[in-house]
Amino acid sequence: MNNVNVKIENLSVSYDDKKVIDNINYSFYRNEITCIIGASGCGKTTLLKTINRSIEYDENVKTSGNILLEENGHFKNIYDISEEVLRKRVGIVSQNPVVFPFSIYKNLLYPLDYYTKLNKEEKKEKVISVLKKVELYDEVKDNLDKYADNLSGGQKQRLCIARTLLTEPEVLLLDEPCSALDIKNQDVIEKLLLQLKNEITIIIVTHNIKEAEKLKDKIIFMDAGKIIEDGVDIIKNPKSVALKDFLNY
Ligand SMILES: Nc1ncnc2c1ncn2[C@@H]1O[C@H](COP(=O)(O)OP(=O)(O)OP(=O)(O)O)[C@@H](O)[C@H]1O
Ligand SMILES: [Mg+2]
Repeated sequence: MNNVNVKIENLSVSYDDKKVIDNINYSFYRNEITCIIGASGCGKTTLLKTINRSIEYDENVKTSGNILLEENGHFKNIYDISEEVLRKRVGIVSQNPVVFPFSIYKNLLYPLDYYTKLNKEEKKEKVISVLKKVELYDEVKDNLDKYADNLSGGQKQRLCIARTLLTEPEVLLLDEPCSALDIKNQDVIEKLLLQLKNEITIIIVTHNIKEAEKLKDKIIFMDAGKIIEDGVDIIKNPKSVALKDFLNY
């Protein structure tokens, strides 16, 4: 069955005159986790940020080509969807988790206040349930009114994942979501993602090859703004010199 959720056609992205995404064509499928790997600076974050248009916060950025989102059997250009709706449908957990400058609880109320009309009790239930999902609840339950900025790096990362999940995205973009997590919490997030993929499309950037192998339905290897190889078994059977070199480091 053709279950494409996000289709990328001839996508190029430049900062000033420097091309960092170079004519990418790719389709991401529902109920799959696609892992993006590649050396630092090859364009992974840029690609993710282009998919939900958060790239537009950067100055001097130019994009060309199409990104299409499936909607009722048709593909719709993301530029024909309002930014507000697009960011709800395509959630992002960014590489450097940014907590908002208020309490832990208010960080999590933020998407609910913005996108839903739930009452106070319903919001509280949602917040608690999502904190339990990312296994942060026990660590913060007595400090929900405390400043979120005082959390550790790994706690902030889990808070940001929880905050994005509250918008109930259909596509979830994650930029190295486990980079600040210890092994236990990496495991928690990996299990959560494997469960979430039953409902949504997940695209995750990771530097951790073992993690990519654990999570993948597909893996994309990028180099200098291009997709060099993609598929299920590219780690086991790398074909290009670039991927072989990358894996040997
Ligand atoms: N706002 C910006 N202005 C100018 N150049 C940028 C900007 N953001 C990224 N770049 C450049 O674009 C290229 C791709 O960056 P990107 O952040 O997408 O790489 P990445 O693959 O995510 O790297 P990493 O693994 O280190 O996170 C790099 O050369 C980077 O220096
Ligand atoms: Mg990056």
